[in-house]
Amino acid sequence: MSWQATVVTLFPEMFPGPLGQSLAGRALENGVWSCRTEDLREHGLGRHRAVDDTPFGGGAGMVIRPDVADAALAATQADANIPCVYLTPRGRPLTQADVRRYAAGPGVMLLCGRFEGVDERFLQARGVEQVSIGDYVLSGGETAALVLLDACVRLLPGVMGSEQSGVEESFSDGLLEYPHYTRPAVWDGHEVPEVLLSGNHAAIAQWRQAKAEETTRERRPDLWSAWLARKNENRTAAVGGAAQADLRGLRRIPT
Ligand code: 6GU
Repeated sequence: MSWQATVVTLFPEMFPGPLGQSLAGRALENGVWSCRTEDLREHGLGRHRAVDDTPFGGGAGMVIRPDVADAALAATQADANIPCVYLTPRGRPLTQADVRRYAAGPGVMLLCGRFEGVDERFLQARGVEQVSIGDYVLSGGETAALVLLDACVRLLPGVMGSEQSGVEESFSDGLLEYPHYTRPAVWDGHEVPEVLLSGNHAAIAQWRQAKAEETTRERRPDLWSAWLARKNENRTAAVGGAAQADLRGLRRIPT
């Protein structure tokens, strides 16, 4: 049973797009995952196959009708337990934790919006998750859907070598990665940090950890605060645990 992506879109030709190449493309050919599309236009109404209408309450833009969205969703015959995700800048931010959850399940059903959005009643009634890929505005949900699928597919068993699972873990510990260097040791007059040429693995690990912390503190104060808070929680828990053990006479706390 392969991992199944189903995409409801006005632009089915955009899939699998770039995911037909490289590792995701190989996995697609090998049947590790599948990518089906449902053309929203085919469920449009009238001679013009209209999928949208003007917003109640007035204002700019058009809104995708709930009946049209629901007809497309029904046509996919998607399993009721696969998560249904609407890609929208109004959504909660997509995280690696979401990606892991999606990848661990049977697949995802993605709804790509265009125009101003989709009628809210449809999203609520069908339990659709609303997800954004960042604080900027795209012309439609399709490229965001490709981003979400790329992030999921690379986690599917057998898609990437074992070395990649380590890379995943290093982001999941909450810090940005340390910088990387390769040959030549001197390039355009710029030297590689000396410690990396030392062969001292403990010193290298320490330097990389320090760089990861420095980079995170400078570039991502949000991640840095969260990491510090978690580190302090762990320390409190460890001290608490040691104190409890000491009370039971199992272990002395070094002073
Ligand atoms: Cl999911 N869709 C659109 N249209 N714009 C976005 C987005 C999604 N995430 C960030 N910007």
